Amino acid sequence: MGVHDLTGRNALVTGGAQGLGAQMAAALAQAGAGVVIADIDEEAGRATADAIERSGARAAFVALDVTEDAGWESAVAVTIAELGGFDLLVNNAGVEITELLTDISQDRVRAMLDINLLGPALGIKHAFRAMRPGGPAGTGGTIVNISSVAATIAFPGIAMYSATKSGVDRLTRVAAMESGKLGYGVRVNCVYPGLVGNRMGLALANDVVELGLFPDTDEAVGAVVGQTPLGRLATGEEIAAAVVFLASDAAGFITGAGLPVDGGMGM
Ligand SMILES: NC(=O)c1ccc[n+]([C@@H]2O[C@H](COP(=O)([O-])OP(=O)(O)OC[C@H]3O[C@@H](n4cnc5c(N)ncnc54)[C@H](O)[C@@H]3O)[C@@H](O)[C@H]2O)c1
Repeated sequence: MGVHDLTGRNALVTGGAQGLGAQMAAALAQAGAGVVIADIDEEAGRATADAIERSGARAAFVALDVTEDAGWESAVAVTIAELGGFDLLVNNAGVEITELLTDISQDRVRAMLDINLLGPALGIKHAFRAMRPGGPAGTGGTIVNISSVAATIAFPGIAMYSATKSGVDRLTRVAAMESGKLGYGVRVNCVYPGLVGNRMGLALANDVVELGLFPDTDEAVGAVVGQTPLGRLATGEEIAAAVVFLASDAAGFITGAGLPVDGGMGM
């Protein structure tokens, strides 16, 4: 158990099959929460849920495309049935497609808007309905949305990705306000992760080289590190730790906030 105790809490983590979401799910489980992994990647999602279960925590997998309203309804029902409650949603699933504005494609922009912005909005909808008084879970809770440092800087090649993540930022604030005003008992916050050297982070570094913005990936990563006061990339564990903190009672008076975990890059 780390510094934050989530014993008895019941979490759904979207995009939890791999990458940051899997690390968040593992960290939440290590803090005592039961975790449902929700992802379109069934094979990796089941393997991640199994690994968490083998570590002694309560875990399950549910297939979910976050862009599907009806899928959310059953994912929340599965979470309540599997874990016995639902009081923590991590809206983590996201995609990054690197394009210059002169070359954006309608389909790729719509895909990012759907997954990165509509997805979390539908998640908030169904979490509010389930967690608020009288809902099938009914005990309130917390939502953590995964935005990005891209919402707080201007990096070339990621205009539409940055726009979707800026949308997540504002969605978070209004969701927190509606929850408070309407007495749902749900805190809503977001995290702005800095660049992590994982699948998505390295793909971005390669993409900006392919677009001719940097001579090679070392220079692309170096440009990020050079703008980061702490002088390095983020780790998945550091992002997951921030999610655990915001989910915990230590953050009990924090709502409508955005927490940068970016080494100071976004100012
Ligand atoms: N990696 C980084 O450097 C970085 C930095 C800042 C923010 N983020 C954000 O963190 C989140 C996780 O990123 P990651 O690096 O782990 O990416 P990743 O590509 O490794 O994992 C994303 C996961 O989301 C799932 N997913 C994709 N579309 C989905 C959909 N429609 N429905 C359900 N699941 C879906 C994928 O199957 C995958 O398991 C994303 O929102 C990303 O924008 C990442």
